[in-house]
Amino acid sequence: MTADPAAATFAELVDTSALVVTCGPGGVGKTTTAAAIGLLGARAGRRVVVVTIDPARRLADALGIPAETADDPHRVRGLGRMKGTLDVLMLDAERTFDRLILDKAGKQAEGILNNPIYRSIAGSLSGAQEYMAIERLHQLHEAGEHDLIVVDTPPSRHAVDILTAPDRLASFFGHPVYRTLVGPSRAMARVTSTATAGFAWAVKRLAGPQIVEDTLDFFSSISGMEDGLRKRAAAVSKLLRNQDTSFVLVTSPRAEAIDEALHLNEALQDGGYPMRAAVANLVHPLPPACTIDPALVRAGSALDDQLRHHGELTALAVAERAELATLVDVIESTKHDDVVFCQVELLAQDVHALDTLAQIADALSAPAA
Ligand SMILES: Nc1ncnc2c1ncn2[C@@H]1O[C@H](COP(=O)(O)OP(=O)(O)OP(=O)(O)O)[C@@H](O)[C@H]1O
Ligand SMILES: [Mg+2]
Repeated sequence: MTADPAAATFAELVDTSALVVTCGPGGVGKTTTAAAIGLLGARAGRRVVVVTIDPARRLADALGIPAETADDPHRVRGLGRMKGTLDVLMLDAERTFDRLILDKAGKQAEGILNNPIYRSIAGSLSGAQEYMAIERLHQLHEAGEHDLIVVDTPPSRHAVDILTAPDRLASFFGHPVYRTLVGPSRAMARVTSTATAGFAWAVKRLAGPQIVEDTLDFFSSISGMEDGLRKRAAAVSKLLRNQDTSFVLVTSPRAEAIDEALHLNEALQDGGYPMRAAVANLVHPLPPACTIDPALVRAGSALDDQLRHHGELTALAVAERAELATLVDVIESTKHDDVVFCQVELLAQDVHALDTLAQIADALSAPAA
């Protein structure tokens, strides 16, 4: 990818941001990039925390994330002498939800936390994981123990889900079924509202009457939190648009990933989110030029095979660069902010150890070719 000479460098981005959010299509290296950005920040002297989601177990081990207390910030050791510090935590959507309830629900908290309905939806409520990723960053931001927070985002079916999660959670409280269930005439509504009656009948058949009672109790107990949650969602929404927030769009050079990245770029620009960097990861290295004259090579020989392989790899690397050039052009034509472009090559092995993570960090901070 070619860099705009006026654009800031990745080092500047890490230096000037208070919050970095890595986002992009599934499997392109969002978690890896988030960890590498954290490393860059710590090298630059910042107190960094990386909020990861579901990192490969071996990467989690390399970072020293303990299995039990994974959702509290944990100091990464073994990085050599660094000016700053690097903490990581692994997001646990259910536990973050619990923290939120404890924080907002006051006396009702215990009732909610013990409610079987709450327990079953806490980890799986639609969009809960996306919402929790940013909810947790809000908690860390308020705690003020770090000066750079890097948030990894979950593999969403639609990558834009992460941006709309706070608004969706707020609109959940405006949903007619929810309003009916918790409304002032709840007892009447149970009998008269078709929506509620239908709902209750369906749930009763599936799960038994106790579950219906639990559901109604649950909805009515969380209604007291509605205001607090709405305010929190608004604060998170604002935080995501702060000037010292940087969205880093990660993609691979595959055509489908680029399509999705372009869609996300549009959503970021339209929503007023500061889109500051695009990282093309998993790019095949361009093989050195071949100086052998194919006319002199015997057909079917081992050298002939190698030449063909070299030709295929070169064609792939060239095609990937052409795809990425389109991405750069589109971002350049739609951007509101300076965007840093980086290219990170596909390494010979997965990024499951601190030394390979350091290689990714070096590639991010290298001047763009
Ligand atoms: N530059 C690279 N070279 C080699 N392997 C890489 C590189 N970047 C990432 N990987 C590997 O690719 C795999 C996917 O990376 P990662 O988990 O960071 O992607 P992700 O976008 O977070 O995925 P998901 O959408 O599932 O959360 C991991 O095994 C990681 O080690
Ligand atoms: Mg990931």
